[in-house]
Amino acid sequence: MDFPQSISQPNNPSSARRLPPAPTSASIRELVRDPLKFFVSIASEYGDIVCYRPAPDTAYLINHPDFVRHVLVDNNRNYTKGTSSNQMFNKVVGEGLLTSEGETWRKQRRMMQPAFHHTRLEKLDGMIVEAAQSTVERWERFYADDQPVDIAREMAALTMTVTTRALFGVDLGDEVREVGEIVNRAASYLEKPSHPRLIQSAAELSDVVKRIIQQRKRDFKDGGDLLSSLILVRDEKTGAAMDDEQLRTQIMTLILAGYETTASALTWTWYLLSQNLRALDHLRRDVREALNGRPPRYADLDNLPYAQLVLDESLRLFPPAWTLGRRAIVEDEIGGYYVAPNTIIAICTYALHRHPVFWDRPEVFDPERFSPQNSMGRNKFAYVPFGAGPRQCIGNNFGLMEAALVLACILQRFELHLIPGMDVQPQPLFVLRPNRDLMMSLHP
Ligand code: HEM
Repeated sequence: MDFPQSISQPNNPSSARRLPPAPTSASIRELVRDPLKFFVSIASEYGDIVCYRPAPDTAYLINHPDFVRHVLVDNNRNYTKGTSSNQMFNKVVGEGLLTSEGETWRKQRRMMQPAFHHTRLEKLDGMIVEAAQSTVERWERFYADDQPVDIAREMAALTMTVTTRALFGVDLGDEVREVGEIVNRAASYLEKPSHPRLIQSAAELSDVVKRIIQQRKRDFKDGGDLLSSLILVRDEKTGAAMDDEQLRTQIMTLILAGYETTASALTWTWYLLSQNLRALDHLRRDVREALNGRPPRYADLDNLPYAQLVLDESLRLFPPAWTLGRRAIVEDEIGGYYVAPNTIIAICTYALHRHPVFWDRPEVFDPERFSPQNSMGRNKFAYVPFGAGPRQCIGNNFGLMEAALVLACILQRFELHLIPGMDVQPQPLFVLRPNRDLMMSLHP
């Protein structure tokens, strides 16, 4: 990766202290009540950069791909991840790859990147397929009893199994199950940052993860899992290995960053497919033609291009990471407007992915808009479900591979239809979640 080494500053910022338009204080109340509606509506009413003041900060919503590129790529060194939610994450989990800064982050990223190399990811396909198939087997009973499944809950359980097995391998039975149970509990407290039970769950999780690390190190063999990679890795500059505390922080970070995001992506994909039966049909046909009934492998993903388009479009409409936050270090200028030091910069991916200048009929689900032909000429920073620049998601290929394999495995046996009459809305919590249980009926 090649990124500027110094923070670039505007030519003469103090002479141009023009501030972006700001909505009235009345609409700030909407920020707390319904942040998605707030961001979409201030962007459409006030433009591509809007100032709002969530006390005690001043914040700018930026909703133009060029501004996104400026903050995440071109001048990324001027923007830290020092927002209140990241500070909370640091307190609960420790300073892992998601929230660390500067030299600490650079070193962590250098050490963790190899664990996500495709040669390691492609070894995880069998495990993912097995987990998806056992979900399908469990659903046979629901089908026989004519019972619907709660797809959000099912996808959460499945991605938790996949995440823990990817991190720890398959043979740590009980302790890995314990991790899953604690994280599921913690996830329900995550929306209330200072919730005492969240702190308690984090401490419990920390204990199990520590035990697993020690156990694994005692009789070490490379199981191809991510923990093995992290135990084996040596810093190319210093030759140092990660100590137990670093391993614990990174493992907890990967669990929290990887599990709910992928569960959310899959949940919304099933929802969208259930509302767009032609796309569902297209996908099912592709799966049948590419696989002929046999279980999918990593190598098959190239032959399932429509699955990729469907996932891209689902991540556009319902990006699990619905907002990205940064804080300016020194003053800057964005789109001709002055940015004071400490200003919060918010990128609402949910709003950006609906920008009418960059997306034709933005509310319509149309996977074909991501075909190579239709993507030509589109500003690539109009679509950032995994972020961009040096802090881009390290697990993006893993998440996409997992989601595509799960879609294929399930579609080989069942189609899912939403129980009619449900009004489903996105709820912006830690990730974007449906506001209600998503009950779906199974059709062979
Ligand atoms: C569909 C699934 C996923 C989505 C939508 C997603 C989204 C994101 C986004 C938007 C960021 C950048 C945040 C920012 O710039 O502020 C990010 C960072 C990150 N993600 Fe993901 N993610 C997904 C899956 C995963 C998985 C499976 C893992 C790990 C197993 C993972 C681990 C991470 C980590 C460690 C970072 C921080 C990277 C850094 O700062 O160097 N993510 N993710």
